[in-house]
Amino acid sequence: MSEEQWSDVDEYLVSLLAPSDESLDEALRESDRAGLPKIAVAPNQGKMLELLAKGRGARRILEIGTLGGYSTIWLARALPPGGVLITLELEPKHADVAEHNLSRAGLSTLVDVRVGPAVESLRELVEEKTESFDFIFIDADKESYPEYFRWAMRLSHSGTMIVADNVVRGGEIINPRSADERVHAVRRFLEIVSAEERVEATAVQTVGSKGYDGFALLLVR
Ligand code: SAH
Ligand code: DHB
Ligand code: MG
Repeated sequence: MSEEQWSDVDEYLVSLLAPSDESLDEALRESDRAGLPKIAVAPNQGKMLELLAKGRGARRILEIGTLGGYSTIWLARALPPGGVLITLELEPKHADVAEHNLSRAGLSTLVDVRVGPAVESLRELVEEKTESFDFIFIDADKESYPEYFRWAMRLSHSGTMIVADNVVRGGEIINPRSADERVHAVRRFLEIVSAEERVEATAVQTVGSKGYDGFALLLVR
């Protein structure tokens, strides 16, 4: 079973179930042109986020890690009129690209891109006493997943769904002696989730155009 086959199957599934459009294509093209890393969610993962958020009836969505706004577009499309998506991004250049992509997609009125270290933005959201979120997507620096989870809990309510991307990392996640600090942080994240009685959770491995990885899915009791 080769990575090439994973990509071919993804192409087949995406063509049938998660077809692209001008806004999504252009978001990726603009991200490439600006030199952003090619690490946006795959189209079928993006569609999964949209369906989960829509199924959850999410009116308020929080995203940690915007990049060029590709996953943001999928998520914002789950919102009803008057819905809100707040997305947090460290790099001003990434946030700029995302703002343009969201504007082109006609989603600017629903989305608020906040620039700076996500932990600072999360602290501000709590200090502002912002209304809690119905759906939270964690996808920024993996080193901070344990901290992002703690803030996500403070910004959640009963029934909030939380998705955390990249929790398998080519299988490296089962190596307790990994040289990769990100792996240790994601392992700590999973252990904290496992011990957290306020959430029910699972994690699923994935293969496809982005290689071998996986995501965690949490539901706040
Ligand atoms: N969700 C995007 C991909 C995000 S990639 C998509 O699927 O389309 C991770 C992003 O997190 C990058 O843009 C990176 O700049 C940002 N990031 C890294 N460290 C961060 C931090 N401390 N605070 C906020 N964003 C951060
Ligand atoms: C990386 C980050 C991601 O969010 C992702 O989906 C894939 C790779 C990375 O930093 O390598
Ligand atoms: Mg990711």
